[in-house]
Amino acid sequence: MNTITAAITAVGAYVPDFVLSNKVLETLVDTNDEWITTRTGIKERRILKDDTKGTSFLAIKAAENLIAKNNINPAEIDLVLLGTTTPDMPVAATAVYVASQIGAVNAFAYDLQAACSSFLYGMSTAAAYIESGRYKKILLIGADKMSSIIDYTDRATCIIFGDGAGAVLFEPNHEGLGFQDEFLRSDGVGREFLKIEAGGSLLPASKETVENKQHYVFQDGKTVFKYAVSGMADVSEKIMQRNNLTKEDVNWLVAHQANKRIIDATANRMGLDESKVLVNIQKYGNTTSATLPLLLNDFEKQFKKGDNLIFAAFGGGFTWGSIYMKWAYDKQ
Ligand SMILES: CC(C)(COP(=O)(O)OP(=O)(O)OC[C@H]1O[C@@H](n2cnc3c(N)ncnc32)[C@H](O)[C@@H]1OP(=O)(O)O)[C@@H](O)C(=O)NCCC(=O)NCCS
Repeated sequence: MNTITAAITAVGAYVPDFVLSNKVLETLVDTNDEWITTRTGIKERRILKDDTKGTSFLAIKAAENLIAKNNINPAEIDLVLLGTTTPDMPVAATAVYVASQIGAVNAFAYDLQAACSSFLYGMSTAAAYIESGRYKKILLIGADKMSSIIDYTDRATCIIFGDGAGAVLFEPNHEGLGFQDEFLRSDGVGREFLKIEAGGSLLPASKETVENKQHYVFQDGKTVFKYAVSGMADVSEKIMQRNNLTKEDVNWLVAHQANKRIIDATANRMGLDESKVLVNIQKYGNTTSATLPLLLNDFEKQFKKGDNLIFAAFGGGFTWGSIYMKWAYDKQ
C-alpha cells in the first residue's frame, strides 16, 4: 500500500506521587466518599504539590518516560505538540520549553488548547501532518496541572480534577494501521457553563478578579453533564456507523475520564461490553488533557496489532469528538 497512515508507535506517562483521596476531601469541603464514588467513579487523584513546578514538569516527565522506554532519539523528533489548559505561563508556549528540556533540538513546538478535548484534537493535528508526508516523528503530549486552577473550597469542582501527563509518538505507517477516521465538533454555547472567567483579554486580572475567585474553574456540572453524555455518545455512534463497525468490531473504547457515568452512557449507546471499556478514573480523576494518553499507557500491554480503538472526548467550549484508530503494534 502506498498511502501513508499515521500510527501511534510509542506511549509514556507520568503522575505525581501525592495522592488526594476522597477521605481527605471530606475534611476540606462538605462531601463524602460514598457520594463522590457513586456520582463520579473517582476514589483518588494525583496532585503536584511542588509550588515551583508547572505543567511543563509533568509534560517533560511523561515525554522522558516515552523516550527511555522506547529508545527514541529526541533529536529526530520534528514537532512537539502539547495539549494543555494550564500552560506554565499565558505567553511563551509551554511546548517550546518542554521540547528544549527533552533534547528535541530539531523540533518546532506549540501548545494546543481545547479544554478536555485538547489531546483528541491534537491527535487529529498530528495525524494530518504525518499523512501529508511533511513530518515523520511527532510527539503529542497531554498534560495539565489542574490543581493550579481549582478552588479547594468548591465541592462542585475540587472532587473531580487531578494532575497528570501522557505522551504518544506519531509516525508514518505503510500497512494501513493507525488513524482511520475522525468526527470532531464544537459549540460556543458551552463557554457559559465551564470556564475560567478572568485572566484573559475579556477580563484581565485585577484585585477584584482575585477577590471574586474568578481565576478558578467554574462549572455548572449538571448542564455540562447533559451535554457531555449526549455529545460523546452521539459522535461515538456516528463514527461506528460511518465506518461500518459493529459492537463486535470495536476492541476498545478509549474515552475521556470525566465521570464514570458519562463513560458508561457512551459505551451503552455503542452496545459495548464492559470489558472493552477502558477506565482509570478511580485512580486519577479528570486530568483534562492527560486522560486519553494515561489510558493508553495503563492498558498498552493489552492492545494487539490491528485492534480497533474508538477514542472519544468532551470538554469545555464546548469541544468534543471521536477518532477511530487501528492499533499498530504488539507490546513485548
Ligand atoms: C459535577 C457532577 C459530578 C455532579 O453530579 P450530579 O449528579 O450532576 O449532581 P448535582 O449537581 O445534580 O447535585 C446533586 C446533589 O448533590 C449535591 N452535591 C453536589 N456536589 C456534591 C459533592 N461534591 N458532595 C456531596 N454532595 C454534592 C448537590 O448540592 C445536590 O444536592 P440537592 O439535590 O440537595 O440540591 C456531575 O454533574 C458531572 O460530572 N458533571 C460533568 C462534569 C464534567 O464532565 N466536567 C468536565 C467536562 S469534561
